Amino acid sequence: MIGLGLRDVGGIIERGGTMLGTSRCPAFLTDAGQESAVRQLVQRDVSGLVVIGGNGSQAGAHALARRGIAVVGVASTIDNDLPGSDVTIGATTALDIALEAIDRLRVTASAHKRVFLVEVMGRACGYLALVAGLTGGAEAILIPEIEESPEQVAASILDAYQRGKSHAIVIVAEGARQDADALAHFFTEHSARLGFELRVTKPGHVQRGGAPRVFDRLSATLLGAAAVEHLQAGRHGVLLGLTGGRVSAKAYADVLHAAKPLDPQLIQLAQLLAR
Ligand code: F6P
Repeated sequence: MIGLGLRDVGGIIERGGTMLGTSRCPAFLTDAGQESAVRQLVQRDVSGLVVIGGNGSQAGAHALARRGIAVVGVASTIDNDLPGSDVTIGATTALDIALEAIDRLRVTASAHKRVFLVEVMGRACGYLALVAGLTGGAEAILIPEIEESPEQVAASILDAYQRGKSHAIVIVAEGARQDADALAHFFTEHSARLGFELRVTKPGHVQRGGAPRVFDRLSATLLGAAAVEHLQAGRHGVLLGLTGGRVSAKAYADVLHAAKPLDPQLIQLAQLLAR
């Protein structure tokens, strides 16, 4: 065990990822793994645990809470798919990175009248793709929540060219039913008929590698402080997030299996602006 004092955690606010080195642990999915984790915490007199992470981490935190450990969760994932927080830590920085990539790709897309397919992370959730597409001025956005056929995507691209656009950017969520590879395959197969040249770009883990931007630093600071306060006050077994711009605490049991649908207004707007 390494003790961390105030000076040991200085200078990390501008770093992404985790300086703790924590990562997924398959053994923790088993009873034996969870019992071992509880033993380690008890042996080391850990009186409270703050778990910062997404669905997997929070499911693990809930498992520890059910085994009697005082746990407070902090909603943090680029996917923004955790109910209990309007925006999770990491999502807006990942969006900024995706947006930068889209802006850069548009230069070549416009110069050579090309179509670019950009695959955005997000697991089974279309939030990143939807917001990146909306703010990046995409001609089409494919997300897991809405089914669209390759022919429909091709029609949107051709329509964009007919309206005088010199490029077409299609944002594809990695979890979309027609993912970037499937679409690329379709467009290559039908290239003679469709008549456009296409390139696929996958920023991938680059989206997770940036220095946290201002919103993420602020929300992490607010939620980190609130997590300590909650533990000190004995209010544990909750997931902290931001709701309406304020720190909110939701019982694990209420959020972990709840759905977090995308904002229908954003979907509508994206469809309207793509025309
Ligand atoms: O949950 C965050 C996330 O970056 C997803 O968007 C992505 O699908 C996944 O993790 C990638 O996981 P890994 O780093 O194990 O490839």
